[in-house]
Amino acid sequence: MGRCPGCGTWGSMAEEAVAVTAATGAGARAGRAGGPRRPARPVTEVPLDDAGRAETGLPELDRVLGGGLVAGSVTLLGGEPGAGKSTLLLQAAAALAGAGRTVLYVSAEESPGQVRLRAERLGACAPRLLLAGETDVPAVLGLVEAHGPDVLVVDSIQTVRDPHVPGTAGGVSQVRECAGTIVRAAKQRDMATLLVGHVTKDGSLAGPRVLEHLVDVVLEVDGDRHHALRLLRATKNRFGAVGEVGCFEMTGTGMTGVADAGRLFVGEAADGTTGVAVTLALEGRRPLACEVQALVAPTNLANPRRVASGLDAQRLALLVAVLQRRVALALGDRDVFASSVGGVRLAEPAVDLALCLAIASSRRDAPVPRDLVVLGEVGLAGELRRVAATERRLAEAQRLGFAGAVLPAAYDGPAYGLRLHRARDLRQAMLAGLA
Ligand code: TYD
Ligand code: MG
Repeated sequence: MGRCPGCGTWGSMAEEAVAVTAATGAGARAGRAGGPRRPARPVTEVPLDDAGRAETGLPELDRVLGGGLVAGSVTLLGGEPGAGKSTLLLQAAAALAGAGRTVLYVSAEESPGQVRLRAERLGACAPRLLLAGETDVPAVLGLVEAHGPDVLVVDSIQTVRDPHVPGTAGGVSQVRECAGTIVRAAKQRDMATLLVGHVTKDGSLAGPRVLEHLVDVVLEVDGDRHHALRLLRATKNRFGAVGEVGCFEMTGTGMTGVADAGRLFVGEAADGTTGVAVTLALEGRRPLACEVQALVAPTNLANPRRVASGLDAQRLALLVAVLQRRVALALGDRDVFASSVGGVRLAEPAVDLALCLAIASSRRDAPVPRDLVVLGEVGLAGELRRVAATERRLAEAQRLGFAGAVLPAAYDGPAYGLRLHRARDLRQAMLAGLA
């Protein structure tokens, strides 16, 4: 088959010979029960799997992992090229090695010499950190046999290859089989394993999604290559909560954890600047003050542009329509550009109202006061809806020194010392939020 009937992509099917074994043969289908190899036990008598957590020396990474690296766990770290995956893992590897664990770092992309250079720069040279440049999976397993590491890093799963499996490195069968082999070794030896995975242009992890099913933890490093800030998220975690977010800054000496994101995602615009509004986005459990910027400019185009960066383009188009119809903001002959600050991606509906106020502010040439935060989801009728965890967001706004907040009228919780402007709809919010 040339085309996958599931997802419609061409050339993604790979041939696979299936050996007929007892498990897939007629005997299994007839429902013959095998003798139990390990009997079932009461839940209270099963030993906890959580015992061997190792701290990685990077508190932000530990937090996202749910308190450190679990022995025998397999973690997939995804991210675009240049996001800082290799840097982060090398730092973690060095810290783990420094704490007395044997770490094998297999680089299938860079030569050990290159990795050494980076390690020097990061101050990440520990004698128990072993480097190998290897692309062959059986050879990697040989190294694992020889050195018996506590932690294995494979950078990356798309560049290693198993000669017994057909297909090129990075292809569907190769990625799945190689990952499967490594996962089995990790479980057998109780070896914590970290795999680097590349992300395709559309933002999904390259290779089959089965990779996500094979591993215990999926982490993604997110951030604009042109900005220093990086967010680390867990999208799957068998040992902790998903939704935790780690914040890092890419510096000359590697990925530095930022414990207090404070105003990192808020620009430096002077008082009286139009087209900017600050909101509090929730990243995991953590409220982050984020600035939304909009620029409304006259255009001669028959179809004016609506361009979003760091924000959802569909949502921008929708909110422009709501502004046109519900508060009669004239945007029909204008381009609208909208963006977040610092490369952060804002996907929450709670950001709607800040985006609307930024657009209205630019169009009307009236600034949103810089000491005001804006929270609220905007409906198609122009009504405002309450956002989740408003209390936590307001508390953070107060901590960061904001003086007031525009928010949906439905909120009836405490004010946290802020001047609250409760608005029922977009019109009221604009009256309260635009100077
Ligand atoms: P890298 O970890 O190689 O990214 P990935 O493995 O995800 O592709 O690092 C990417 C970028 O980070 C690279 O452009 C250089 C920069 N960098 C720093 O700014 N400081 C540093 O200390 C290091 C090691 C890299
Ligand atoms: Mg890399």
